Order: sequence, then structure tokens, then C-alpha cells
Amino acid sequence: MGFPVQGFSSGLKYRPLGSDVFVASYPKCGTTWMQYIVYLLMNGARALPPGRKLEEFFPHLEEVGTEGVQALPERRMIKTHLPFEVMPFHSDARYVYVARNPFDCAVSFYHHTRGFVHHYDFAEGTFDDFFECFIAGEVDFGGYFEHLLSWYAQGSAANVLFLTYERMQRETERVIAEVGAFLGEPAALIARDAAAVAAIREESSFKRMSRDQRRWSSARPEGMPEFVRKGAVGDWRDAFSPEQARRLRDEFAKRTGGRGPYSLWPEILADVEAYIDAAV
Ligand code: A3P
Repeated sequence: MGFPVQGFSSGLKYRPLGSDVFVASYPKCGTTWMQYIVYLLMNGARALPPGRKLEEFFPHLEEVGTEGVQALPERRMIKTHLPFEVMPFHSDARYVYVARNPFDCAVSFYHHTRGFVHHYDFAEGTFDDFFECFIAGEVDFGGYFEHLLSWYAQGSAANVLFLTYERMQRETERVIAEVGAFLGEPAALIARDAAAVAAIREESSFKRMSRDQRRWSSARPEGMPEFVRKGAVGDWRDAFSPEQARRLRDEFAKRTGGRGPYSLWPEILADVEAYIDAAV
């Protein structure tokens, strides 16, 4: 598995501006969905111009490096998968962090790794193989739990907004309005306009984002899942064995001490318990 190392080390040295807007996440946790919501909030709810890619306006820090980001007009919109410890930080910049439950994240990351043949040599890989890498933290951007814990600890900072993918699904319009208010003007103005928020919800819906996917990602080979794939909560059941579910649940409990982010997804954990119990 690989990621261009040049952009990565340059990105780590980026000095943010107070006006910067970051969308931060562990991979496969709803980054692109949140990026598009932020883009729409910052652009008067107007859709991405035809033929353009989101990354032209909203690049990935670790991919384009400092120079790529500095070429953006201000306010800069920047995607990152860095854990908080190494995140270029400015106390006035805004950081929107999206977390997703580890079970669905693992499944989504598996399909991503399988289908992203330019980056990974995993087209024939099985979920069982990927699961072992995921639980050991031997995947791009390191361990899920370290990442989650590092950002969760910042959740009370005034310039960090900690959200979950599951809440984005449940209360999309509220989340859009919250993100807008958090970003300040001009996004805050849009966020107070109910019609604009509804339009953003529609434009960033799974259905709309499933169309013309070259806006978000490179082409996938025949037979591989698209980037905007299923967009479901609870999809893990189709891939996990009861033993894998138990192991990831135990790891989650161990890494968090059963506190803090462990309480973010009670419904998922209840389903996981039921799934494990049904197998014994
Ligand atoms: P699945 O693979 O579970 O479908 P990221 O952008 O961090 O790589 O996250 C990708 C995940 O977000 C994928 O999950 C993708 O389908 C989902 N996603 C992308 N756009 C979405 C949208 N508009 N609504 C809901 N889920 C979306």
C-alpha cells in the first residue's frame, strides 16, 4: 500500500492560515460527503461547475503538499487524514472532523483498497485479509483507534467540530446548518436559509453524488465498487464474521477503556452484541 511520500512530508509542514477550513477524518468515514457539504456552504449552495473535480477546489493536504495548498485562493478548503498529533494547527482555522463507526469503516476501507488499483495491489484481497490489517492499524494513515482518539480529545476546542457519519445520515439538515454556523460567514448566512440548506442536502445526497463520480475519484476497473458505494449504516454485517465482530468490539473497548468515543455508536454496538450472541 502506498501514498506519495513527497506530498506527505511537505503537507506535514504546512502552516495554516487563520481563515483555513479543514475537513479531517480517518479514511472512509464520510470525508468526501462532508467536503462537498462544506464546498456548497462556502459557495452559495452552487453545485460544482460541470467538468470540474472537487479536489481542484478542496485538495488533500498530504497528496498535494504545502505548495498545492498555497496555490488555493483564500479561504482555503483542505482535506486531511492526519491524526491530530501531526496536524498543522492554527487556533483560528476551522477543523471539521468526521468519525464513523469502526465496523462500517473497515468494510468501506476494504472495498476502497480493493478497487483503488492505482494505489494498492489488493484487487484479489479478501475481507479476512483486510480485517487483520485494519485491526492491527497496518493500513494507510495508521490505526483507526489512534486517529479517532486523537481528534476526539479535541472535540471541546472552539475551532474543532466533531461529527459522525451516522449523525450526518440521521439529521442531515441539522448537521449542514451546524457546519455552516461553525464556519462563520459566508457559510453561516447560507446555513440560516432553510431553502439553501435543503438544496445543499439534495445536491450532496447519496443519489446525486453517485452520479458522475469522476468528480470525486479516479475510475475503478470493471466489476469493482464505485467510490460512492453504498452509503449505509450497518453494512458491516454482510462482511464480518461473529468472531471478527467480537475482536473489533473488544479492541474498541480496550483502546478507549470503554469511555469517550466508545459511547458514540450505541445502536451499532447493540447490533454487534446481538450478532455475536446469536452465533454462540
Ligand atoms: P461506503 O463504502 O460504506 O458506501 P470517504 O469519502 O471518507 O472516502 O468515505 C467514503 C464513504 O462515504 C463510502 O461509504 C461512500 O459511499 C460514502 N458516501 C459518499 N458520499 C455519500 C453521500 N452523499 N451520502 C452518504 N454516504 C456517502
